[in-house]
Amino acid sequence: MKFTFVTLFENLISPYFKDSILKRAIENKKIEIDFKNPRDYTKNKHNKVDNYQAGGGAGLLMLPQPLCDLLDIVKKQNPQVHIIFPVPSAKPFRQIDAKRLAKKDHIVFVSGRYEGIDERVIEEYADEVFSIGDYVLTGGELASLVMSDAISRNIKGVLGNEDSLSEESFEDGALEAPSFTKPNIFKGSPIPSEFLKGNHAIICSLKKEMSGLKTKYFRPDLFLRNIKG
Ligand code: ADE
Repeated sequence: MKFTFVTLFENLISPYFKDSILKRAIENKKIEIDFKNPRDYTKNKHNKVDNYQAGGGAGLLMLPQPLCDLLDIVKKQNPQVHIIFPVPSAKPFRQIDAKRLAKKDHIVFVSGRYEGIDERVIEEYADEVFSIGDYVLTGGELASLVMSDAISRNIKGVLGNEDSLSEESFEDGALEAPSFTKPNIFKGSPIPSEFLKGNHAIICSLKKEMSGLKTKYFRPDLFLRNIKG
């Protein structure tokens, strides 16, 4: 999988890939990343990448021309690219999207800054638009990182232990059950005794029950969606 990040601020994104699991994924050639800066594609005298909003309104928007020229080149090099615009006014990004997108060859994330991107650019180039939550960030970089991280860990060979994928939150539409490690008693609180006895069928059903309770308490919306199917 190749991720191309279109951003004015490469340094907001690149350090995340220099450590831990994603660093190893790059070393093992499971993922590849590159960066494209819209400023390098400007045609005006001062390399301006923003302008006032038509009809007024607070803040500046990113100019269409540099973004469009950049994306045209990316698409020419690989017509199969999947272009994603992270924006707050979009459908939520979910685990099933991360799993589905992990099968793509090349994803391009276009990060807006200022008050966002001219809607016509999104209309013309977006294969998908996603929001990562009901709040507004200062730009799309964090959202692009969040999505690329969630997608990467669903690519075969990126995680050391792929079994962990099948047990985690959202896999079956529920939150993951609590987990425990040593010591058996921590600050007076013991690990549930069944976890220490090693009967996997019992542990499995206990985890299922805990997962249901946790989902009902913290995410009643998910719980109800599950019941309704
Ligand atoms: N850009 C700014 N806020 C965002 C959000 N919540 N999700 C995706 N992109 C964004």
